Amino acid sequence: MKTTRRDFLRLTSLGLTLPFIPAVPAIHAGESKVEWCFGVIPDTQWKTNMEAPFYGTAIHIIDAINDEMIRHKVDFVLEVGDLVEEAFTEAFQTRAQHNKILHDAGIKFYPLRGNHDSRNSITPVCCGAAVAHYRSAFPNLPGTRGSNGSSPDLPNAAGMTYSFTHKNGKFLLLDTFSLIDDGSEDGKAYKISDYQSWIDTELSQNDHQFALVFAHKDLLGQNHKDNVFSDDKSNQNSFPETQNAFIAGLQKNGVGNFICGHDHMYHRSQIKSPDGNSEVQQIICGSAAHKFYQPEPPFLARETSLIKELNRIGFLIVHVNSKGFRIDYYSTEPFGQEKFSPKWEIRDSFNNSFRCNT
Ligand SMILES: [Fe+2]
Repeated sequence: MKTTRRDFLRLTSLGLTLPFIPAVPAIHAGESKVEWCFGVIPDTQWKTNMEAPFYGTAIHIIDAINDEMIRHKVDFVLEVGDLVEEAFTEAFQTRAQHNKILHDAGIKFYPLRGNHDSRNSITPVCCGAAVAHYRSAFPNLPGTRGSNGSSPDLPNAAGMTYSFTHKNGKFLLLDTFSLIDDGSEDGKAYKISDYQSWIDTELSQNDHQFALVFAHKDLLGQNHKDNVFSDDKSNQNSFPETQNAFIAGLQKNGVGNFICGHDHMYHRSQIKSPDGNSEVQQIICGSAAHKFYQPEPPFLARETSLIKELNRIGFLIVHVNSKGFRIDYYSTEPFGQEKFSPKWEIRDSFNNSFRCNT
C-alpha cells in the first residue's frame, strides 16, 4: 500500500496507535514476475533467564514465526538482535537449534546482536567470552574468513558487523555492542562513526539494486531513549555529526529504510537528521519476546510518526521484485508458553519503489 501524502497527514494527525491497516497484497502495477522474499524477526528474548528448556529465548514464538517463514517461502531470515535474555552458551545454542526447520528448508539465518546478547547479568562474563559463545552458535557469517560478504577492517568485527548481497539486494547489519576486552568491565564497542567509511563503501558499490541497513538499537526510540549512536538516555541528539553523516549516507545511496528492534513495538516513522538535511524511514519491527514497551516522551520534532502497534507479537516479510519491494508487518495476540494457535494478520504494508530502475 502506498502511503500518499493525504494518508500521511491523516495518520500523523491521529497521532498514536492505529489499530489496523488492512492488507493490500499487490506490490506494483506492471511488477516483475521475478519475485522473492525474506523475513525479519524482532527481539526474541524470554523471561526464563537461564532455565531449560527456554534458556531465555522464546523458542515457542520462534517456532511459530519460522513456520510462517517456511509458508512464505522466504530466501532467508534476519534477526535484529536480543536473540536471548542473557549471553551464555546454552542460550545461543538453543536459539540456533530452533532454526533447524529453516536450515532443513535451505533458508539461511542472519543474526545481529542486541544489548542482551552482549552481557550476562546473572553470571557476569567478560565481553570476550560473551562474543565467543555467540560466535560458536552462529559461525561462518558473512565477513568471516572463507565466507562471502564483508566486514569492517576492525579487530573482532568480522561476522559481527557485516554485509552480504542476495539477488538484487544488499544488507548491512551493524553491531554496536562490546566486542573487545580492553580491561574495562564492559569492554569496547564500536560506534557508528567507526563503521561510517565501511558503510559508505558498501552502499556505494555497484553490486545491488537496493540496500537495507539494520541495527538493534533505534535512531529514535519511542520508549528507549538510548539509541544506535549513544547510550546516553538523556540526549537523543548525541554525536550530531555522526548522526548527520550516517543519515546523509543512507539518503545519498538511496537507502530509504533503516530497520531495528530494541523497543518491542511496531513503529514506522520518518526521521530527519539533526541538521535537517537528510532523512530516512525507520521501522522498529515489533516484538517476538515476553516484553512490550509503551511510548514515553520526549519525542523529537524531527521524527514524524506514521503508524505504530503495541503489545503484539510480530515479524516482517519483505517481498522484492526488480522494480521495488513491499514490507508487510504481520502480528498476532501475545501468547505464553502454553500451546497456542496464533492468528497472523497483516497490520501494516507499504511499498518502496527503487530509485533507478533499469
Ligand atoms: Fe529486546
